[in-house]
Amino acid sequence: MSRLYNKHIIVAISGGIAAYKSAELVRLLKTAGAQVEVVMTRGATEFITPLTLQALSGNPVHQHLLDPEAEAGMGHIQLARWADAILVAPCTAQVMARLAQGQADDLLGTLCLATTAPILLAPAMNQAMWADQATQTNANTLTTRGLKLLGPADGEQACGDVGPGRMLEPSELVAGLAQTFASHRLQGRKLVITAGPTREAIDPVRYLSNHSSGKMGYAIAQAAVEAGAKVHLISGPTKLATPQDLTCTQVNSATEMLAASQQACADADIFIASAAVADYRPAQVAEEKMKKTAADAGMTLQLVQNPDVLATIAQQYPALTCVGFAAETEKLLEHAQAKLHRKQVAMIIANDVSDTSIGFNSDDNQVHLVTAHGTETLPRLSKTQLARQLIDRISQLEQ
Ligand code: PMT
Repeated sequence: MSRLYNKHIIVAISGGIAAYKSAELVRLLKTAGAQVEVVMTRGATEFITPLTLQALSGNPVHQHLLDPEAEAGMGHIQLARWADAILVAPCTAQVMARLAQGQADDLLGTLCLATTAPILLAPAMNQAMWADQATQTNANTLTTRGLKLLGPADGEQACGDVGPGRMLEPSELVAGLAQTFASHRLQGRKLVITAGPTREAIDPVRYLSNHSSGKMGYAIAQAAVEAGAKVHLISGPTKLATPQDLTCTQVNSATEMLAASQQACADADIFIASAAVADYRPAQVAEEKMKKTAADAGMTLQLVQNPDVLATIAQQYPALTCVGFAAETEKLLEHAQAKLHRKQVAMIIANDVSDTSIGFNSDDNQVHLVTAHGTETLPRLSKTQLARQLIDRISQLEQ
């Protein structure tokens, strides 16, 4: 179930008897490592209490479109942007009809219109309502528009009827949702990805480093796994949990990162350098903790240049598709183009790290893709969503 790890999932619950199963659905999603926000229609609260869903998701439940308190926190547009997927479960005949018409008169309808994330519906209704021409037309309209239906299942219904209209079991919904994040774009390819900062020791207790959290590189590694790749993540020190289904080598310094990359790239197809590697390290590492001298005496540290991991790998393995980043505070595209040529790589992903809401240690990023053929600007997205787009573009470099 690792495909759901760290994914932002909105579970939207509408008013049907199957709403009682949504509690188990939320529990299973949390167990799979997803971050879950729950939206409930007024009808849903007649079947199950928001308190139950709050306890299971770990977050307050979103119920109203025009709620000043909610809008001051995560408002409906932020919620729509936050989502990696929206799962409407149960999805009643009425909600299907409203979504088919594009109605935005409640929170659920608004979110579904405002999001760019995949929307999945788990229909749950009486078998005659499901079979009705109107519902079938709505189902066709919605699937033609790209929404995905999970179910319904066939069987005995709460009303005593037998036939199609039962909501799928929570475990089946979780599996269907996980499938949304799978692609086979990089099936059979091996990717080596560097992430996080490096630490350059000054003495046994001090080091030089930077603000990289590893979020960007880890998101790329996760997206590559979802795309079917065999992934080797080479990570500097971060607070992030190691993603599942990949090999991870932890390193500290730039020199260690280079050695690990050289070894891992020997049989790789693609190398992505997202790590913020320190350009310099202290010329000497003191064996003992350095002591303060006179109160007003300064200290001079002599630094030497670190090896350039990306440039070295690109030179050592000319057949490898190499992708680097450019973290800039000025002349973003100019510097990115210079790095593309100097490091001899297929693509540079340029980000403006002077903007604290993107780049280092933020949840979002906004990048420009610089190649020999030109520049493409991607919209600002969560690092998870952006990583999927990056993997999509990087996989095309090889074609
Ligand atoms: O980790 P996060 O908090 O999520 O932040 C993400 C990020 C801002 C770190 C990431 O998006 C990013 O920009 N990574 C590259 C940071 C960097 O070191 O950029 P640079 O412009 O200094 O280096 C250019 C390229 O050369 C990078 O691919 C870098 O990995 C590589 N490099 C740099 C120096 C060096 N000695 N060896 C290298 O391999």
